Amino acid sequence: MIIDLVLSNTKAYINNEIVGCSLAINEGKIFRIGKEANMPKAETRIDLKNLLVLPGLIDVHVHLRDEGKAYKEDFCTGTAAAAAGGITTVLDMPNNNPVTMSVETLRRRMKIAERKILVNVGFYSEFPKNKKEIEEIIREGAVAFKLFMAEQIGGLNIDDDHGLFEAFKIVSSLKVIVAVHAEDKTTFKRTEDELKRDNHNDIEAFLKVHSERVEVTTVKRLLNIAEQTNVHIHFCHMSTKNGLKAIVDGKKSGMTITCETTPHHLFLSVDDLRQTGTLVLTMPPIREKHHSIALWNGIRNGWVDVLASDHAPHMLSEKKADSVWNVKVGVPGLETTLPLLLTEVKRGRLSITDVVRLMSEKPAETFELKGRGCLKEGNNADLVVVDLDREYRIDASKFQSKAKFSPFDGWNVEGKPVKTFVGGRLIMSEGEIVAEEGSGDIIRRG
Ligand code: DOR
Ligand code: ZN
Ligand code: ZN
Repeated sequence: MIIDLVLSNTKAYINNEIVGCSLAINEGKIFRIGKEANMPKAETRIDLKNLLVLPGLIDVHVHLRDEGKAYKEDFCTGTAAAAAGGITTVLDMPNNNPVTMSVETLRRRMKIAERKILVNVGFYSEFPKNKKEIEEIIREGAVAFKLFMAEQIGGLNIDDDHGLFEAFKIVSSLKVIVAVHAEDKTTFKRTEDELKRDNHNDIEAFLKVHSERVEVTTVKRLLNIAEQTNVHIHFCHMSTKNGLKAIVDGKKSGMTITCETTPHHLFLSVDDLRQTGTLVLTMPPIREKHHSIALWNGIRNGWVDVLASDHAPHMLSEKKADSVWNVKVGVPGLETTLPLLLTEVKRGRLSITDVVRLMSEKPAETFELKGRGCLKEGNNADLVVVDLDREYRIDASKFQSKAKFSPFDGWNVEGKPVKTFVGGRLIMSEGEIVAEEGSGDIIRRG
């Protein structure tokens, strides 16, 4: 038998250990892990010269845009950015144009994506107006629901707790996750209106509106409904000490909840926001140092389940405005997340085990992405080869993403994804995309 590919001379992360071995890959799957002498004949052999091989990263929070917002990013550039960053699977957020919130919009989005994606993509849906459609959307293959609490985007009235309760009950019975952006419009609207009325249009005003209190209040409001419905809530991009504490309290009480945080909330503080300006404006915003310290602590204690980039590309021109209220919020993150984390491995703040847990194992487990998240025989051959000794400077002008800016532009990092394989196919090598569009798979639930 001649198989597709053998990766020789690797140090691979297998069963929580880094072991010297070779990896045989056939028909998109890991066929065998073992000594070189035990590898079958293969069409192609690549000598990885002792580089580290990790399970491909899974980024559960990505705005790929496309369709009506393709001028910011499209399936091709967004998934190229993922591949460049060592990420082999992304979950696409639904705040698109049109909003992904029905069988039709989901089906069309998948169809367009199919021909363009370079890594695997699963899709979130916002809630439909008609609750009967919830099950149909899941049957169509949505991986999870997303609930944006800061503005009415989907069909579910975010001010109506009873409506949320009814929807959560259905989702809970289907054993599907609801990922939430926990900033409640009703909680911050009055402050926002007052500040706007008095012409407060700067970053300080934005920070007053998007306060810690808003995050905490929303987390508690949703935990309360989750408790009554048993739904699995996944809290996106946690950014505050007490927001995280509310989640930890919920976990301690036995609730099935998970949460994520982002590199920008971990590595940056409000000083960076003040210094760099609205270019790094995100929602929720980056905050005072004690919040990022609490988030790091949450990572150490295992309270933070998942790291995700919240890759939110915009045009550069949209990132500046006379008024902070007109700035598009969000920053790209697919190409900086892994290098930043590997740099922390070098510095001793994280271990490789932490990186794999936070960005491969836990995302796969939480969102039930079967056959992904770890290197073992039979799993999909999604993997990233990293060079831990490669030092370089982040240069946003070289991004694959259309959004060629970053809060981390100019940062020196150590550790680089040098090859990305998706389903056994080499997609990225030394920063270059070497595969055809359409090489990635659409991931459907179930
Ligand atoms: O910073 C953000 N950007 N926060 C959001 O909630 C939306 C996102 C986007 O779509 O740009
Ligand atoms: Zn969000
Ligand atoms: Zn987001």
